[in-house]
Order: sequence, then C-alpha cells, then structure tokens
Amino acid sequence: MDSDADVNMLEDEGLRFSTVQKGKGKASEVTASEPQTDNNLPWVEKYRPVTLDDVVSHQDITSTIEKFIEQNRLPHLLLYGPPGTGKTSTILAVARRIYGEGYKKQILELNASDDRGIDVVREQIKNFAETRTLYSSGFKLIILDEADMMTTAAQAALRRVIEQYTRNVRFCIICNYVNKITPAIQSRCTRFRFSPLPIPQVEKRLNRIIEEENVKLTPDGREALLKLTKGDMRRALNVLQACHAAYELTGETEVYNCTGNPHPSDIEAIVNSMLTDEFTTAYQLISTMKTERGLALPDLLNGAFEFIDTLHLESHARVYLLDLFATIEHRLAAGASEKIQLTALLGSFKNAVEMSVKA
Ligand SMILES: Nc1ncnc2c1ncn2[C@@H]1O[C@H](COP(=O)(O)OP(=O)(O)OP(=O)(O)O)[C@@H](O)[C@H]1O
Ligand SMILES: [Mg+2]
Repeated sequence: MDSDADVNMLEDEGLRFSTVQKGKGKASEVTASEPQTDNNLPWVEKYRPVTLDDVVSHQDITSTIEKFIEQNRLPHLLLYGPPGTGKTSTILAVARRIYGEGYKKQILELNASDDRGIDVVREQIKNFAETRTLYSSGFKLIILDEADMMTTAAQAALRRVIEQYTRNVRFCIICNYVNKITPAIQSRCTRFRFSPLPIPQVEKRLNRIIEEENVKLTPDGREALLKLTKGDMRRALNVLQACHAAYELTGETEVYNCTGNPHPSDIEAIVNSMLTDEFTTAYQLISTMKTERGLALPDLLNGAFEFIDTLHLESHARVYLLDLFATIEHRLAAGASEKIQLTALLGSFKNAVEMSVKA
C-alpha cells in the first residue's frame, strides 16, 4: 500500500510543479485587483478576518490552533456554534496561515450549496484526499462547511475516509448544531465551540468599521444596533451597512426600522395597553399598530418578553405569563392564526393582572 502511494506521489510531481507556479501567479493577481473589487463587496466579506489575530473574542481557540500549526500537528477540527461567530472565517484564516495566499489550491471546500451526498464523499473527497502534496506542511485541508446538513449516510461514509487519509489530509467540519454530527465523526475531531460574541468585542470591531466607512451613527443608534445583534457579527455588519445606505444619520428608530424589529416604545405602549385598557380597546390599538408599523406577532412576543422583565409583577403571575408566552410562541411556529393567538396573549395579560391584584 505504501509503495502504491509513493508511485502516486511520483506521478503527481510534474503536475504539481506547474500547480505551484500557477498558484503564485494567481496570488499576485489577486492582491493587485483587491482594492478595486473591495468596495463593491458587502461589508461582511470586505471585513472578513484575514489572519487568525483578526478573529475577535475567540483568542483561546485561535491561539490553540496557532500552536497546532506551529508544531505541525493540526488535528481534524470540528468547529461549531451559532451563525456569524467566525467559524468559516477562522478556518479560511488557518488555510491562509498554512499555505499563504494561494491557499485555494490546497483546500477542498464544500458547503451546503454543493452536493454532498454519499457519492461525493466516495469520489470527490476521496480523489482529493488521495493526491499528495509536496508542501512542507505535508497535508491538504478538506473543509466541510455547514456539515449539519449532510446526510447520515454521507457522514457514515466519511468515517473511514477520515482515518484512511489522515497522513495527507486534515478535515475541518463546521456546523451550527453539533448534535447533528454523528458521534463517530465527533470523536475523530478536536472540538471547538464558537460562542456568541460578547457585546464589547462586537463593539470594538464595529467601531473600526464605522470609522473606516464613515458611518454616521448616534449613541442610541449604536446601542440599539448592539442590542439587536445578539452576538452575531454578520448581522451587526449587515444591519450597519443597510442603515448606512438608507439614512444620512442613523439613530435608534432607523436601526429598528431597518431590521423590522418593533421599537421599544411601541412595545411599551402595547404592553401597557394590554395591562390597563379594556379588552376591546387594547385589541383594537394593537391591531392598528400591527398593520401601521408592519409588526409580526412573534417579534412582538419577543419584545414583550424582554419588556416584562422590567415590570413589577407577582412571581406566580410572571410565571404564568412566561409559560403562556412559550405556548403561544410554539403555536405560532406551528402556523397558528396570528389573530387568535393575539387574543390569547391579551387574555393572558388580563389574567396575570387579576392574579397580581388578588395576591
Ligand atoms: N469572531 C469574529 N471576528 C471578526 N469578525 C467576525 C467574527 N465572526 C464573524 N465575523 C464577521 O461576520 C462575517 C461572517 O462570519 P463567518 O462566515 O465566519 O460566520 P460563521 O461562524 O461561519 O457563520 P455560519 O454558521 O452562519 O456559517 C465575517 O465575514 C466577519 O466579517
Ligand atoms: Mg460559515
């Protein structure tokens, strides 16, 4: 088997020399044309971290990976966590760190938009894994992005492939939900969890971009933006870019308008009306506001959920309300009628008030 591999290696040598040169030529072309195309790129791409140091908030992960690379001991990786936290960016920075600017030649990147059924695992991945390289690091990288979308059969086929080609290939499996990756694959990889980015870290990076792009943002606009992004850097950048394109000066209202989230003052008005007004009056007020502002009940429910934190309610009334919120959210997700669920919500507020008064 070993001698087979050696023959393969010799055969590939000539081919690879030309690849190296092509790679170099391409790399310089890319650098030369980058400044021009950069301005047309969406900000999420324009400001995608280039090096591992640019990836904010996950220093422990990046420094561990950096050490692996330095010692030339990169294991198979499994990166998981919520969207927009830097998983894809990290692995691309790793590839750039190992192979330099011509890294695209050395990696096989497959994501959910590519076909990744069992045939691809058998053919494309195996073919790529089988050919060896002459690079000093000695291995190539196969990135399976959004791997939670891979079928179980494809994942099962991958098990043996991972083991068989460990000599010349490292796998990096990326997903949002780690429980969708079979345990057998999980145990073959070193796992890293990318948690949602803390607000100060998002703010630090946003500040740089705000300055560079000359975005005019008021302090309360900045606060609203940070609150809405919930640790998702991609969302933060997209909202910022949309606001910058739509408004001269971005304040709190503009941020909420841009994202379609209900404005906190609207939520306050709605919840107060539900607590104090008579049933029909409250229902009419909310219905009118819903049509006028284009609010969706799930968003309203989320807003009300955050708002009741600030209210003074008897604990059993609060528990009752929260339980109903959960039920209504579930029903809405299952496709229940917004109108009926709105009346249910309204009714539950009335009950909660009564419970509070009796207590
Ligand atoms: N930790 C981070 N540091 C700096 N920028 C980040 C970070 N995380 C995300 N970003 C920004 O958000 C964009 C999207 O990040 P990335 O593609 O790495 O997310 P992801 O974790 O792969 O998300 P998904 O699970 O949706 O694929 C990047 O282009 C970058 O601009
Ligand atoms: Mg990704």
